Amino acid sequence: MQKRQIADKVYWLGAIDWERRLFDSLIPLPDGTTYNAYLIEGSEKTALLDSVDPPMADDLMAQLDGIKKIDFIVSHHAEQDHSGTIPGVLKRFPDAQVVVTEKAAGMLGDLLKIPKESMVSVKDGETLSLGDKTLQFNHTPWVHWPETMVTYLNEDRILFSCDFFGSHIATADLFVTDQGRVYEAAKRYFAEIMMPFRSMIEKNIEKLAGYDIQMIAPSHGQIHDRPSWIMEAYRDWVTGTPKNLVVIPYVSMHGSTREMVNHLAAALVENGVRVELFPLPVTDIGKLAMALVDAATIVVGTPTVLAGPHPLAAYATFLANALKPRVKFLSIVGSYGWGGKTVETLAGMIPNLKVEVIEPVLCKGLPSKTDLGSLDGMAGAIAEKHRENGYQ
Ligand code: FEO
Repeated sequence: MQKRQIADKVYWLGAIDWERRLFDSLIPLPDGTTYNAYLIEGSEKTALLDSVDPPMADDLMAQLDGIKKIDFIVSHHAEQDHSGTIPGVLKRFPDAQVVVTEKAAGMLGDLLKIPKESMVSVKDGETLSLGDKTLQFNHTPWVHWPETMVTYLNEDRILFSCDFFGSHIATADLFVTDQGRVYEAAKRYFAEIMMPFRSMIEKNIEKLAGYDIQMIAPSHGQIHDRPSWIMEAYRDWVTGTPKNLVVIPYVSMHGSTREMVNHLAAALVENGVRVELFPLPVTDIGKLAMALVDAATIVVGTPTVLAGPHPLAAYATFLANALKPRVKFLSIVGSYGWGGKTVETLAGMIPNLKVEVIEPVLCKGLPSKTDLGSLDGMAGAIAEKHRENGYQ
Protein backbone atom coordinates (compact mmCIF):
# COMPACT_ATOMS: atom_id res chain seq x y z
CA MET A 1 0.00 0.00 0.00
CA GLN A 2 1.42 3.41 -1.01
CA LYS A 3 1.18 6.49 1.17
CA ARG A 4 -2.20 8.22 0.84
CA GLN A 5 -3.14 11.86 1.28
CA ILE A 6 -5.60 12.74 4.05
CA ALA A 7 -5.21 16.56 4.01
CA ASP A 8 -3.02 19.18 2.34
CA LYS A 9 0.55 17.79 2.57
CA VAL A 10 -0.57 15.31 5.23
CA TYR A 11 -0.36 11.60 4.41
CA TRP A 12 -1.32 8.27 5.90
CA LEU A 13 1.50 5.76 5.94
CA GLY A 14 1.57 2.44 7.70
CA ALA A 15 0.59 -1.17 7.40
CA ILE A 16 -2.60 -3.17 7.29
CA ASP A 17 -2.30 -6.39 9.26
CA TRP A 18 -5.06 -8.55 7.78
CA GLU A 19 -3.75 -11.73 9.40
CA ARG A 20 -3.13 -10.84 13.04
CA ARG A 21 -5.57 -12.49 15.43
CA LEU A 22 -3.98 -11.88 18.83
CA PHE A 23 -2.39 -8.85 20.48
CA ASP A 24 -0.05 -9.03 23.48
CA SER A 25 -0.55 -12.81 23.26
CA LEU A 26 -3.86 -12.06 25.00
CA ILE A 27 -6.32 -9.83 23.16
CA PRO A 28 -8.37 -11.34 20.33
CA LEU A 29 -8.28 -9.36 17.06
CA PRO A 30 -11.18 -10.86 15.09
CA ASP A 31 -10.80 -8.23 12.35
CA GLY A 32 -7.01 -7.81 12.30
CA THR A 33 -5.64 -4.29 12.75
CA THR A 34 -3.67 -1.46 11.17
CA TYR A 35 -0.59 0.40 12.35
CA ASN A 36 -1.06 3.96 11.16
CA ALA A 37 1.82 6.40 10.80
CA TYR A 38 1.48 9.88 9.28
CA LEU A 39 3.76 12.15 7.31
CA ILE A 40 3.41 15.94 7.47
CA GLU A 41 5.38 17.95 4.93
CA GLY A 42 5.74 21.54 6.13
CA SER A 43 7.26 24.26 3.96
CA GLU A 44 10.53 23.93 5.90
CA LYS A 45 10.55 20.66 7.80
CA THR A 46 9.04 17.21 7.50
CA ALA A 47 7.73 15.10 10.38
CA LEU A 48 6.83 11.43 10.58
CA LEU A 49 4.36 10.60 13.32
CA ASP A 50 4.91 7.11 14.78
CA SER A 51 5.94 3.99 12.86
CA VAL A 52 4.66 0.40 12.58
CA ASP A 53 5.00 -2.95 14.32
CA PRO A 54 8.45 -4.37 13.45
CA PRO A 55 7.16 -7.41 11.49
CA MET A 56 5.62 -4.92 9.03
CA ALA A 57 8.59 -2.55 8.86
CA ASP A 58 9.13 -3.20 5.15
CA ASP A 59 5.74 -1.63 4.34
CA LEU A 60 6.67 1.64 6.01
CA MET A 61 10.22 1.71 4.68
CA ALA A 62 8.93 1.24 1.12
CA GLN A 63 6.49 4.14 1.62
CA LEU A 64 9.43 6.32 2.68
CA ASP A 65 11.27 5.65 -0.61
CA GLY A 66 11.61 8.98 -2.37
CA ILE A 67 11.29 11.01 0.84
CA LYS A 68 14.51 13.03 0.85
CA LYS A 69 14.55 14.16 4.46
CA ILE A 70 12.75 13.57 7.71
CA ASP A 71 13.53 16.16 10.34
CA PHE A 72 11.36 14.85 13.17
CA ILE A 73 9.93 11.50 14.17
CA VAL A 74 7.17 12.11 16.69
CA SER A 75 6.75 9.09 18.95
CA HIS A 76 3.42 9.38 20.77
CA HIS A 77 3.74 6.09 22.58
CA ALA A 78 6.66 3.78 23.32
CA GLU A 79 4.73 0.53 22.78
CA GLN A 80 6.45 -1.33 20.00
CA ASP A 81 3.49 -1.57 17.61
CA HIS A 82 4.05 2.18 17.04
CA SER A 83 7.66 2.75 18.00
CA GLY A 84 9.23 -0.54 16.92
CA THR A 85 10.31 0.62 13.46
CA ILE A 86 11.73 3.98 14.61
CA PRO A 87 15.26 2.52 14.83
CA GLY A 88 14.96 1.46 11.17
CA VAL A 89 13.72 4.91 10.14
CA LEU A 90 16.58 6.48 12.09
CA LYS A 91 19.06 4.33 10.20
CA ARG A 92 17.80 5.80 6.94
CA PHE A 93 17.42 9.35 8.31
CA PRO A 94 20.18 9.54 10.95
CA ASP A 95 19.79 13.29 11.48
CA ALA A 96 16.11 13.03 12.40
CA GLN A 97 15.20 13.93 15.97
CA VAL A 98 12.77 11.69 17.82
CA VAL A 99 10.23 13.95 19.55
CA VAL A 100 8.91 12.46 22.79
CA THR A 101 7.71 13.16 26.31
CA GLU A 102 10.44 12.96 28.90
CA LYS A 103 9.05 9.65 30.17
CA ALA A 104 8.98 8.21 26.66
CA ALA A 105 12.66 9.10 26.17
CA GLY A 106 13.58 6.77 28.99
CA MET A 107 11.25 4.06 27.75
CA LEU A 108 12.47 4.19 24.15
CA GLY A 109 16.02 3.94 25.48
CA ASP A 110 15.05 0.86 27.50
CA LEU A 111 12.82 -0.86 24.97
CA LEU A 112 14.52 -0.05 21.66
CA LYS A 113 17.95 1.24 22.69
CA ILE A 114 17.36 4.50 20.84
CA PRO A 115 20.31 6.73 21.79
CA LYS A 116 19.58 9.72 24.01
CA GLU A 117 21.21 12.12 21.56
CA SER A 118 18.62 11.20 18.90
CA MET A 119 15.72 12.25 21.13
CA VAL A 120 14.28 15.59 22.14
CA SER A 121 11.70 15.90 24.92
CA VAL A 122 8.75 18.24 24.56
CA LYS A 123 6.67 19.74 27.31
CA ASP A 124 2.90 19.60 27.56
CA GLY A 125 1.45 22.23 25.20
CA GLU A 126 4.77 22.88 23.44
CA THR A 127 4.63 23.67 19.71
CA LEU A 128 6.93 22.75 16.87
CA SER A 129 6.92 24.65 13.57
CA LEU A 130 7.42 22.84 10.30
CA GLY A 131 7.12 26.16 8.42
CA ASP A 132 3.53 26.48 7.31
CA LYS A 133 2.41 23.64 9.61
CA THR A 134 2.48 23.74 13.41
CA LEU A 135 2.39 20.74 15.70
CA GLN A 136 1.19 21.13 19.25
CA PHE A 137 1.98 18.34 21.68
CA ASN A 138 -0.45 17.46 24.42
CA HIS A 139 0.62 15.05 27.13
CA THR A 140 -2.04 12.43 27.77
CA PRO A 141 -0.58 10.21 30.50
CA TRP A 142 -2.07 6.74 30.93
CA VAL A 143 -3.76 6.64 27.54
CA HIS A 144 -2.73 3.94 28.05
CA TRP A 145 0.92 4.01 29.23
CA PRO A 146 2.47 6.66 31.48
CA GLU A 147 4.40 8.33 28.64
CA THR A 148 1.64 8.82 26.06
CA MET A 149 0.93 12.08 24.22
CA VAL A 150 -1.10 13.26 21.23
CA THR A 151 -0.37 15.88 18.55
CA TYR A 152 -2.71 18.57 17.25
CA LEU A 153 -1.98 19.95 13.80
CA ASN A 154 -3.13 23.55 14.16
CA GLU A 155 -3.61 24.56 10.52
CA ASP A 156 -5.63 21.46 9.57
CA ARG A 157 -7.32 20.91 12.96
CA ILE A 158 -6.32 17.24 13.00
CA LEU A 159 -5.71 15.36 16.23
CA PHE A 160 -3.18 12.53 15.91
CA SER A 161 -4.29 10.48 18.86
CA CYS A 162 -2.25 7.26 18.67
CA ASP A 163 -4.13 4.53 20.64
CA PHE A 164 -6.73 7.05 21.93
CA PHE A 165 -9.99 6.64 19.89
CA GLY A 166 -8.43 3.75 17.95
CA SER A 167 -9.93 0.45 16.88
CA HIS A 168 -8.54 -2.84 15.69
CA ILE A 169 -9.89 -3.20 12.16
CA ALA A 170 -7.86 -4.22 9.13
CA THR A 171 -9.30 -2.17 6.30
CA ALA A 172 -8.15 -0.42 3.16
CA ASP A 173 -10.72 2.36 3.78
CA LEU A 174 -8.90 5.34 5.20
CA PHE A 175 -11.94 6.97 6.76
CA VAL A 176 -14.83 5.56 8.79
CA THR A 177 -17.35 4.13 6.35
CA ASP A 178 -19.49 1.99 8.66
CA GLN A 179 -20.00 3.78 11.95
CA GLY A 180 -21.72 0.81 13.61
CA ARG A 181 -18.80 -1.48 12.85
CA VAL A 182 -16.25 1.04 14.07
CA TYR A 183 -18.32 1.76 17.21
CA GLU A 184 -18.17 -1.92 18.14
CA ALA A 185 -14.44 -2.22 17.38
CA ALA A 186 -13.66 1.01 19.25
CA LYS A 187 -15.70 -0.15 22.24
CA ARG A 188 -13.84 -3.46 22.24
CA TYR A 189 -10.57 -1.52 22.07
CA PHE A 190 -11.63 0.76 24.92
CA ALA A 191 -12.71 -2.21 27.05
CA GLU A 192 -9.48 -4.12 26.60
CA ILE A 193 -6.94 -1.31 26.60
CA MET A 194 -8.34 1.88 28.08
CA MET A 195 -10.97 0.89 30.67
CA PRO A 196 -8.49 0.28 33.51
CA PHE A 197 -7.47 3.96 33.23
CA ARG A 198 -10.96 5.48 33.14
CA SER A 199 -10.26 8.36 35.52
CA MET A 200 -7.13 9.39 33.60
CA ILE A 201 -8.97 9.09 30.30
CA GLU A 202 -11.70 11.38 31.63
CA LYS A 203 -9.10 14.02 32.49
CA ASN A 204 -7.51 13.72 29.07
CA ILE A 205 -10.85 14.04 27.27
CA GLU A 206 -11.40 17.25 29.25
CA LYS A 207 -7.95 18.48 28.18
CA LEU A 208 -8.87 18.00 24.54
CA ALA A 209 -12.12 19.95 24.91
CA GLY A 210 -10.28 23.20 24.15
CA TYR A 211 -9.31 22.09 20.65
CA ASP A 212 -11.35 22.54 17.49
CA ILE A 213 -10.98 18.98 16.20
CA GLN A 214 -12.13 18.37 12.63
CA MET A 215 -10.46 14.99 12.24
CA ILE A 216 -9.04 12.34 14.58
CA ALA A 217 -6.27 10.24 13.06
CA PRO A 218 -5.55 7.32 15.40
CA SER A 219 -2.76 4.77 15.09
CA HIS A 220 -5.12 1.79 14.75
CA GLY A 221 -8.13 1.54 12.47
CA GLN A 222 -9.91 4.12 10.39
CA ILE A 223 -9.61 7.90 10.56
CA HIS A 224 -12.56 9.80 12.05
CA ASP A 225 -13.43 12.61 9.63
CA ARG A 226 -16.61 13.27 11.66
CA PRO A 227 -15.12 12.80 15.13
CA SER A 228 -17.91 14.02 17.43
CA TRP A 229 -19.59 10.61 17.82
CA ILE A 230 -16.44 8.78 18.91
CA MET A 231 -15.65 11.49 21.47
CA GLU A 232 -19.23 11.25 22.74
CA ALA A 233 -18.97 7.45 22.93
CA TYR A 234 -15.78 7.75 25.00
CA ARG A 235 -17.50 10.20 27.34
CA ASP A 236 -20.33 7.70 27.84
CA TRP A 237 -17.98 4.76 28.45
CA VAL A 238 -15.89 6.76 30.90
CA THR A 239 -18.33 8.93 32.82
CA GLY A 240 -21.83 7.63 32.06
CA THR A 241 -23.78 5.54 34.59
CA PRO A 242 -23.78 1.75 34.26
CA LYS A 243 -26.67 0.23 32.37
CA ASN A 244 -29.50 -1.97 33.66
CA LEU A 245 -27.45 -5.01 32.63
CA VAL A 246 -26.22 -8.16 34.36
CA VAL A 247 -23.24 -9.90 32.79
CA ILE A 248 -22.95 -13.60 33.61
CA PRO A 249 -19.65 -15.29 32.71
CA TYR A 250 -20.15 -18.96 33.53
CA VAL A 251 -18.84 -22.47 33.11
CA SER A 252 -20.59 -25.73 33.84
CA MET A 253 -19.12 -29.23 34.02
CA HIS A 254 -22.19 -31.46 34.29
CA GLY A 255 -25.09 -29.05 33.79
CA SER A 256 -26.01 -27.98 37.34
CA THR A 257 -24.38 -24.54 37.16
CA ARG A 258 -25.83 -24.05 33.67
CA GLU A 259 -29.32 -24.76 35.03
CA MET A 260 -28.79 -22.19 37.78
CA VAL A 261 -27.49 -19.58 35.35
CA ASN A 262 -30.37 -20.10 32.94
CA HIS A 263 -32.89 -19.87 35.78
CA LEU A 264 -31.29 -16.68 37.09
CA ALA A 265 -31.17 -15.14 33.61
CA ALA A 266 -34.87 -15.85 33.04
CA ALA A 267 -35.76 -14.42 36.46
CA LEU A 268 -33.75 -11.27 35.78
CA VAL A 269 -35.53 -10.75 32.45
CA GLU A 270 -38.87 -11.26 34.25
CA ASN A 271 -37.78 -8.48 36.59
CA GLY A 272 -37.00 -6.13 33.71
CA VAL A 273 -33.21 -6.51 33.80
CA ARG A 274 -31.14 -7.10 30.65
CA VAL A 275 -28.73 -10.05 30.75
CA GLU A 276 -25.77 -11.21 28.70
CA LEU A 277 -24.42 -14.73 29.21
CA PHE A 278 -20.85 -15.71 28.38
CA PRO A 279 -20.17 -19.47 28.32
CA LEU A 280 -16.48 -19.27 29.16
CA PRO A 281 -15.17 -22.36 27.33
CA VAL A 282 -16.23 -20.78 24.01
CA THR A 283 -16.25 -17.06 24.84
CA ASP A 284 -14.24 -14.40 23.01
CA ILE A 285 -12.91 -12.50 26.03
CA GLY A 286 -13.07 -9.27 24.04
CA LYS A 287 -16.86 -9.64 23.88
CA LEU A 288 -16.95 -10.19 27.64
CA ALA A 289 -14.78 -7.10 28.17
CA MET A 290 -17.15 -5.03 26.00
CA ALA A 291 -20.16 -6.12 28.03
CA LEU A 292 -18.33 -5.11 31.21
CA VAL A 293 -18.15 -1.52 29.91
CA ASP A 294 -21.91 -1.25 30.47
CA ALA A 295 -22.74 -3.79 33.18
CA ALA A 296 -24.06 -2.69 36.57
CA THR A 297 -23.78 -6.23 37.93
CA ILE A 298 -21.59 -9.29 37.34
CA VAL A 299 -22.68 -12.74 38.43
CA VAL A 300 -19.99 -15.41 38.06
CA GLY A 301 -21.33 -18.92 37.50
CA THR A 302 -18.94 -21.71 38.43
CA PRO A 303 -18.89 -25.25 39.66
CA THR A 304 -16.52 -26.16 42.46
CA VAL A 305 -13.57 -28.14 41.14
CA LEU A 306 -10.55 -29.20 43.16
CA ALA A 307 -12.01 -27.28 46.14
CA GLY A 308 -12.21 -23.94 44.34
CA PRO A 309 -13.73 -22.15 41.35
CA HIS A 310 -13.30 -23.63 37.88
CA PRO A 311 -10.08 -22.16 36.41
CA LEU A 312 -12.03 -20.51 33.59
CA ALA A 313 -14.24 -18.73 36.13
CA ALA A 314 -11.13 -17.68 38.04
CA TYR A 315 -9.65 -16.32 34.80
CA ALA A 316 -12.78 -14.31 34.00
CA THR A 317 -12.84 -12.93 37.54
CA PHE A 318 -9.14 -12.05 37.36
CA LEU A 319 -9.75 -10.31 34.04
CA ALA A 320 -12.72 -8.31 35.38
CA ASN A 321 -10.62 -7.21 38.33
CA ALA A 322 -7.77 -6.13 36.03
CA LEU A 323 -10.05 -4.21 33.63
CA LYS A 324 -11.71 -2.27 36.49
CA PRO A 325 -15.13 -1.77 34.91
CA ARG A 326 -17.68 0.57 36.53
CA VAL A 327 -19.72 -2.41 37.78
CA LYS A 328 -21.43 -1.83 41.14
CA PHE A 329 -22.70 -5.25 42.26
CA LEU A 330 -21.28 -8.75 42.12
CA SER A 331 -22.42 -12.22 43.04
CA ILE A 332 -21.62 -15.87 42.49
CA VAL A 333 -23.78 -18.84 41.67
CA GLY A 334 -22.78 -22.46 41.24
CA SER A 335 -22.88 -26.05 42.23
CA TYR A 336 -20.56 -28.22 44.29
CA GLY A 337 -20.26 -31.93 45.04
CA TRP A 338 -19.04 -32.09 48.61
CA GLY A 339 -17.55 -28.73 49.66
CA GLY A 340 -14.81 -26.23 48.88
CA LYS A 341 -13.85 -22.57 49.05
CA THR A 342 -15.22 -21.24 45.77
CA VAL A 343 -16.80 -18.08 47.18
CA GLU A 344 -13.84 -17.19 49.38
CA THR A 345 -11.38 -17.72 46.52
CA LEU A 346 -13.32 -15.57 44.02
CA ALA A 347 -14.06 -12.89 46.63
CA GLY A 348 -10.33 -12.60 47.25
CA MET A 349 -9.66 -11.97 43.57
CA ILE A 350 -11.50 -8.66 43.16
CA PRO A 351 -9.64 -6.03 45.21
CA ASN A 352 -9.93 -3.48 42.35
CA LEU A 353 -13.70 -3.71 42.07
CA LYS A 354 -15.58 -1.33 44.32
CA VAL A 355 -18.65 -3.53 44.41
CA GLU A 356 -21.36 -4.50 46.82
CA VAL A 357 -21.44 -8.29 47.02
CA ILE A 358 -24.92 -9.79 46.76
CA GLU A 359 -25.39 -13.01 48.76
CA PRO A 360 -24.13 -15.88 46.54
CA VAL A 361 -26.24 -18.97 45.82
CA LEU A 362 -24.35 -22.25 45.88
CA CYS A 363 -26.09 -25.60 45.85
CA LYS A 364 -25.14 -29.24 46.27
CA GLY A 365 -25.54 -31.09 42.99
CA LEU A 366 -28.56 -30.12 40.92
CA PRO A 367 -30.44 -27.05 42.20
CA SER A 368 -33.46 -27.88 44.35
CA LYS A 369 -36.71 -25.90 44.43
CA THR A 370 -35.32 -24.01 47.39
CA ASP A 371 -32.15 -23.18 45.45
CA LEU A 372 -34.18 -21.96 42.48
CA GLY A 373 -36.21 -19.84 44.87
CA SER A 374 -32.95 -18.32 46.16
CA LEU A 375 -32.02 -17.44 42.57
CA ASP A 376 -35.42 -15.76 42.16
CA GLY A 377 -34.62 -13.80 45.30
CA MET A 378 -31.22 -12.80 43.88
CA ALA A 379 -32.85 -11.62 40.64
CA GLY A 380 -35.37 -9.53 42.59
CA ALA A 381 -32.63 -8.01 44.76
CA ILE A 382 -30.53 -7.08 41.72
CA ALA A 383 -33.54 -5.56 39.93
CA GLU A 384 -34.34 -3.50 43.01
CA LYS A 385 -30.78 -2.21 43.30
CA HIS A 386 -30.72 -1.26 39.60
CA ARG A 387 -34.05 0.57 40.01
CA GLU A 388 -32.88 2.40 43.15
CA ASN A 389 -29.80 3.63 41.28
CA GLY A 390 -31.72 4.66 38.19
CA TYR A 391 -29.84 2.31 35.84
CA GLN A 392 -31.53 2.11 32.46
FE1 FEO B 1 -1.23 0.38 19.88
FE2 FEO B 1 -0.52 0.75 23.13
O1 FEO B 1 -0.13 0.36 21.37
